[in-house]
Parts: sequence; C-alpha cells; structure tokens
Amino acid sequence: MILTKDSFGEDFIWGVSTAAYQIEGAHDIHGKGLSIWDTFVKKKNKIFKNQHGDIACDFYNRYIADLHLMHSLNIRNYRFSIAWSRILPQGTGEANPSGIDFYNKLIDLSLELGITPWITLYHWDLPHALEQRGGWINREVTDWFADYVALCVKHFGDRVKNWMVLNEPAVFSAAGYFFGVHAPGKKGIDYFLAAAHHASLAQAKGARIIKSLQPDSTVGTTFSCSHIEPFTGREKDILAAKKADVLLNRFFIEPLLGMGYPTDEIKILRRIEKYIKHNDENELKFDMDFIGVQNYTREIIRHSLFVPYLRAKIVSAKSRKVELTAMNWEVFPESMYHVLKKFSAYPNIPPLIVTENGAAFPDEVVNNQVDDPKRVQYLQSTIAQVLRAKQEGVQVNGYFAWTFLDNFEWAEGYHPRFGLVYVDFETQQRIVKSSGHWYADLLKEKI
Ligand code: NOJ
Repeated sequence: MILTKDSFGEDFIWGVSTAAYQIEGAHDIHGKGLSIWDTFVKKKNKIFKNQHGDIACDFYNRYIADLHLMHSLNIRNYRFSIAWSRILPQGTGEANPSGIDFYNKLIDLSLELGITPWITLYHWDLPHALEQRGGWINREVTDWFADYVALCVKHFGDRVKNWMVLNEPAVFSAAGYFFGVHAPGKKGIDYFLAAAHHASLAQAKGARIIKSLQPDSTVGTTFSCSHIEPFTGREKDILAAKKADVLLNRFFIEPLLGMGYPTDEIKILRRIEKYIKHNDENELKFDMDFIGVQNYTREIIRHSLFVPYLRAKIVSAKSRKVELTAMNWEVFPESMYHVLKKFSAYPNIPPLIVTENGAAFPDEVVNNQVDDPKRVQYLQSTIAQVLRAKQEGVQVNGYFAWTFLDNFEWAEGYHPRFGLVYVDFETQQRIVKSSGHWYADLLKEKI
C-alpha cells in the first residue's frame, strides 16, 4: 500500500514534537532558574555516561535556523514545551522577561513560517526551587502549576490556540517518584501515589484555567500507552497483563474521564485515597478537546512472584528475540492500532491525536548523509496503522512524529537517536536523515 497524506483527509494534523529540556540547552543563562533535570543530571551515575542537557541541541541559540529547516521539510505543526523555570526561575512569583521573550520569538517565527505552535505546558522539568518545597508530592503544586499556566496563556494565548497540559504523567510520576531513575530521583510507592494524584489534579485544573482565559482554545493532555499482551494464555499471566494495563494505560486517563482511579486489580494503589480530599473526584474531571496518545511499542507481561505489590513483570523484548530499536523496544507498529482502538472505546472520549511516535536507531553519517531505512520503515508502518484505525471509525485527528532533532533522551543520554534530523553534538551540525526527507515528501502538497 502506498501511504498518502490525502487518505487521512484535509483536516488531519501532521507535525513533529520536541521538549524543552531535551533540545534547548542554555540551562542557566538570561535569568533561567534551574529545573529538577538541571540538578539531577549533576548527580553521579544517574545518566548514561553522566551526560546532561546543558547544551543539548543548543536550540535556544539556533531556533531560527531550526525552524527554517522544519519549514523546508513541509512541517506545518510544531509541538514544543515551555521550560517552566525559564519563565518563572523560582517556579512562582517574579517572571523572567528574557524567558518570555524567547518563547515569544519562537512562536512569532513559527507563525511567520506558517507553522502552527502546539504548546506542552509541562514536559518534566519542574523548577528546582519547587522541588525543594516538595515538588509533585506537595499538594500546593497544583496552585503553583495553575499560576504558571495562567501566565503562559496571558503571554502567549493571543497567538497560541493549541495547548497540552501534561506530558505523560504516568512516566514522570513513576520514573521520577517510584523508580528514581528520572528527576527528582525519589523512590517509594507513597511518593508515586502522591505525585500521581497531584499531577492528575493539576492536569484538570490547568485545563480549566486555559479554557476560562481563552474559551476558543483547543486543550488536551498527553498519555503514554502500550499495547499489552499476556505471555501465555494461563490465568496468572492474563491477570498480570491486566495489572500492567492499569499502570501503563488506565491509571491516568480514567480519573480525567470521571471514572475514578482503577484500583480493583492492584490493591496497593488504594493507598492513593490518603491523598484524596473532599470533591477531588470532580476536580479530576475535565472534558478535554483531545487526548494525546503516545505509543512506541507493545509489552508482553507475565506473572512473577518476585515483584512486590504487582506480581507481574515485563518480558523484555531482547529475551523474545524480536527486532529491537536502540531503546531495546520491540519494533511492533500494530501496537499503535491497538492503543487507538482501546482509548477510543472509552465512553465520552474526545478525539485522539497521536502526539508522539517514533524510533531510535544507531544512525551513521556517511559522506555527509544519514540513511536510516529502518526508521522510514517504522514510521511508514506505524502511520499505516493510524490510518487503519481511522478507517475503522476511530476519531484520530493528527500525528506528530517524535522527534525533529536527535536530542537528550533523559537517563539514556544522547545515544538513542530519535530525530528526523541528525545532530552532531560536537559541532551542532544538522543533517536531514532519509526519514526526514521521506516525511517531507509525505507532507508535501501534491497538486
Ligand atoms: C516520551 C517522552 O515524552 C519523550 O520525552 C521521550 O524522549 C520519548 N518518549 C522517547 O522515549
């Protein structure tokens, strides 16, 4: 099947996504405050080879050339995040005019080039000053976040219509507050549950604020999700898969949809009740204009006695001898179809947008070119699965590739390259990969 943009209809939104800490660099200049990632990366052995995002893609200084490059690749929608500590160095209080100026320039140039901005308000870089006051564990974070959101809408809302409140709350609360492998590096079930509840409250509260200040805005939020299958047909594995489904897919979207936290399968999650106050169930709900779905792979789950609370574990893709990406994730494009079908089956679900999808492979520069047929194949097959779901009636209105530039992949550092554009981190040279040219061709207006 030849994939064409036309098969998705005229209104389908095509774009690319990035996140501030992963690309901007300029971590401590022009009045920017530190974020939890700026401080986390300085701790020994948290990040692959102790790498950090101090410079990253130096996007802060190179955004003009990068946006022109984006434009030349026919990309007309750009999802990026705002670094909270760039515009509010202490997280609350006094705003930093240079920070606001940077995003104003980024927005203005995007619009000038015909690129529509889609802003993510929180992509994991909490101001360090707020972490010192408890961060996501402190319920007050919902007020700090609300003030920050209002500031963004006040400054950027005259030109920006499309907002995403949070990026993958399941990942930042679990990796940052349960496993301790992401900033701020806290470990424990109670930390996780407090962070999860406050993130969910902040999500709905932030969305309400955007809508009240800008009624004609389009507001969504984004969730990580995986297609899940049990390792065998044994009852124990099926139950294990159900538990994984709660954590990987259901725990954050269901309270937003007004269904409360799913705690039937995993009793320990009921400890979240400690953090729930009167009327929170209503506060957690919000009718988003869209839900951002972010999918990369599927997970195979089996029963395991050794995993506390869960008794379930992921069967690594490596041990299954399947095709892998540089993240050791299975290449399994059909996963996208399944998650779109699954999420669209919720009652009262708004339209879906794929706000991230992509793959990391070990790219190589040969004669100043980067040929990445595996990424082309991955994107093509996954986009075909989006179309399959759409043709079966799933309301999916857009696709954003992760990501525009190779960048800082959190605890994994710089080795997994997800970009459509290769970045030489020594020289900051950009080389459009074959996948970038392929995407540009897909997006080209054909007359
Ligand atoms: C999800 C995250 O939002 C993004 O920051 C990350 O780089 C990609 N997935 C790939 O892991």
